[in-house]
Amino acid sequence: MYNRRKFIGSAAALGIIGLLPSKIVSAGKRKPFLSKANKFPIILSTWSHGIVANAESMRLLENGASVLDAVEKGVMIPEGDPKNHSVGLGGIPDRDGKVTLDASIMDSEGNAGGVCFLEDIVHPVSVARMVMEKTPHVLLAGKGALQFALENGFKREKLLTPESKKVWEQMIKRKNYEPRINWEEKHNDFHDTIGLLAIDGSADMAGACTTSGLGGKVRGRVGDSPIIGAGLFVDNEIGAATATGMGELVMKTLGSFLVVEFMRKGASPQEACEKAILRIVDKVVGHEKYQIGFIALNKKGETGAYSLQPGFNYALSANGENVLINADSYFRK
Ligand code: GLY
Repeated sequence: MYNRRKFIGSAAALGIIGLLPSKIVSAGKRKPFLSKANKFPIILSTWSHGIVANAESMRLLENGASVLDAVEKGVMIPEGDPKNHSVGLGGIPDRDGKVTLDASIMDSEGNAGGVCFLEDIVHPVSVARMVMEKTPHVLLAGKGALQFALENGFKREKLLTPESKKVWEQMIKRKNYEPRINWEEKHNDFHDTIGLLAIDGSADMAGACTTSGLGGKVRGRVGDSPIIGAGLFVDNEIGAATATGMGELVMKTLGSFLVVEFMRKGASPQEACEKAILRIVDKVVGHEKYQIGFIALNKKGETGAYSLQPGFNYALSANGENVLINADSYFRK
């Protein structure tokens, strides 16, 4: 069923020297992870920045932290990394040069929180968690979200770094600028997200998703990441899913909820991710131009991932390893 994807290449090509996983495997070689349940705890997250996020989440889980703390603190690592241009500090700004962030979080009780169009706060995932824990609401936006964050002790910080400003200046010079399909260091204006899912030793699940969204987006644009059911969904009885890529396609199909619902009907996480991508192919006109990737986890500890275009990878931490895996895709090279 799985084609053997090309080995992803050198660490230099990945741009993650110093953040290397213990190994990088192709889709064909990940079968052991898919065909049998992994030993708990298990953490998986989108893209190569997932390696450091997973490592932190796993460290916390192994030291007795809650699964909610583990997912939050895991994604805070890429959020706080100024060299990561798709999440938090140093994110690529919108068309007007402003960095605006979206994030969401869900716990094993079905509680959910999110923030969108948030400026000047490095860790939107923590504000999302506070929305979940301290308000009766699920989503706060823009100035209201910022006010809420400041009232709750978050500090205002400048998110636009000299490097991300430079990328933005190059981007707006290109009249024909279009969102990139995949993370490509040579273009540097890539667009992706970290979505991280975890199941702890008691088989309780949580998830978090955070992004600076599409570089060069129209001011005010919000993607799928803060929308519960689109960028992230967790049902502790069934499983969890999260998405990356062009959020509009995920929003039009409520992708992460759809993945979990396919699992509820008996699909494995892998089958569920593939079916959700097929839904996008069936229903969203123009999908050929964009990338979408889903990852999923079920209550048994089985995992899955699938993308629209080749090039999507994810980090899987289980059975004492933290590996970067090339996902299989609908379109082939
Ligand atoms: N998937 C993140 C976004 O579209 O903003």
